[in-house]
Amino acid sequence: MRLSVVGCGYVGLVTGACLAEAGHEVICTDIDEQRIAHLQAGGVPIYEHHLDKILESARSAGKISYTLNAGEAIRGGDAIFICVGTPPKENGEADLTAIDHVARQIATEARTAKLVIEKSTVPARTGLELRRALTAYSRNSGLAFRVVSNPEFLREGTAVSDFLHPDRIVVGVEDEASARDMREIYRPILERSFRCPVHNGTCPPGNAVSLLITTINSAELIKHASNSFLALKISYANVIADLCEKIGADVEEVTHAMGLDPRIGEQFLRAGLGFGGFCFPKDLQAFVHLAGTVGVDFDILKAAERVNKQRIERFFEKVRRALWVVKDKRVAVLGLAFKANTDDIRFSPALEVVKELLRQGAQVQATDPEAISRAQALFPAASYHEDPYDALRDAEAALVCTEWDIFRNLDWERAGQLMARRLVVDGRNLYSPSRMRALGFEYHSFGRE
Ligand code: UGA
Repeated sequence: MRLSVVGCGYVGLVTGACLAEAGHEVICTDIDEQRIAHLQAGGVPIYEHHLDKILESARSAGKISYTLNAGEAIRGGDAIFICVGTPPKENGEADLTAIDHVARQIATEARTAKLVIEKSTVPARTGLELRRALTAYSRNSGLAFRVVSNPEFLREGTAVSDFLHPDRIVVGVEDEASARDMREIYRPILERSFRCPVHNGTCPPGNAVSLLITTINSAELIKHASNSFLALKISYANVIADLCEKIGADVEEVTHAMGLDPRIGEQFLRAGLGFGGFCFPKDLQAFVHLAGTVGVDFDILKAAERVNKQRIERFFEKVRRALWVVKDKRVAVLGLAFKANTDDIRFSPALEVVKELLRQGAQVQATDPEAISRAQALFPAASYHEDPYDALRDAEAALVCTEWDIFRNLDWERAGQLMARRLVVDGRNLYSPSRMRALGFEYHSFGRE
């Protein structure tokens, strides 16, 4: 099929690239002139595992193209994926200005009826507004647009693999024809009949993927309900960690045993600095706001949010206790991205740590495998080092903020020799406390004192 993708951010690019890989013809557009020029020249504006490879193979096969001209992109596809940003407003509500803008563009630029697919994360009932805008602004042409909600469940860092090998595909529709079209778009992925770039050409064995057909309101709700539940799980694990510290238990032992119960599951129970990124914090707020607008008080989510905000304070209590005075101390910060395997620093707990250290007058020596240039632009007062051992040189403390493998596998004997003082405050519970202490480190982590 011929597909259009509006918005070339994480979601749009991964969606466009994967659907091209699955055999469709894809045309992508964005309002960012530089981004489109970069893509047209064969560049990849974000770091996402496998994305460069599949964008290149789609480009050389003539399956993907980019244009700054939204009208051209809109007319070029039978179905249009809306993948624009829905950032948070001051009050937590999702800002849907970009969605509204694209809806009006589609209504006025299209010459034939299109399937309009809402891929961006939006609050429930946005589909209804989208349909209203499409109808209102296409009054002259009288085109009958169909609206679909198709939320994404991609994790940054594994987004390509998540797209091509999903646990479920959720499709909210108003009519049978839209469900049929969506099944056709996802057929190669449902049947695993594409050359899998993630696994050297062959899809790994696995269960059949289900495509769940729901109403549009349900599909929209599924997305917010899923993200919020995962965030809730993390905050729960973090409170358990606080309890473990007071009681003298080990949070890793507790959450491991909890996770063996299939009703609970082992994922998203990692205690530490808490959740960040451009999804969980904003989705949680938007969901609480949405619930409030219909008179439902989502108290447990508000508590999850509060617990998450307190993680940085809890971390700093540990830093202050260990370092005593922070001012003028040399502090190595290991990790800037909001999680491993991404260059994304949006709402990163690591940046809160850098900000607070600088505020307290520390000399920050930061390192990250992918996120240095982005962080440098925000906090030029810190020094940045590609090599983690350079960041650790002469440091009086090392603060672990992101769970990159390169930090997990650091040679702490070597690091200890470089550091001015053997002190590690680990915000991601990466190391064994007994091993670190055996190496002569004062070591603090979450839920394992
Ligand atoms: C999240 C969801 O996992 C995706 O399913 C969803 O599609 C995406 O949001 C989205 O809405 O676009 P992502 O934000 O990429 O994906 O990151 P996650 O891997 O979910 O991690 C979120 C945050 O939680 C990170 O800061 C991570 O360090 C933290 N986390 C995760 C914990 O603190 N503990 C855990 O046990 C797991």
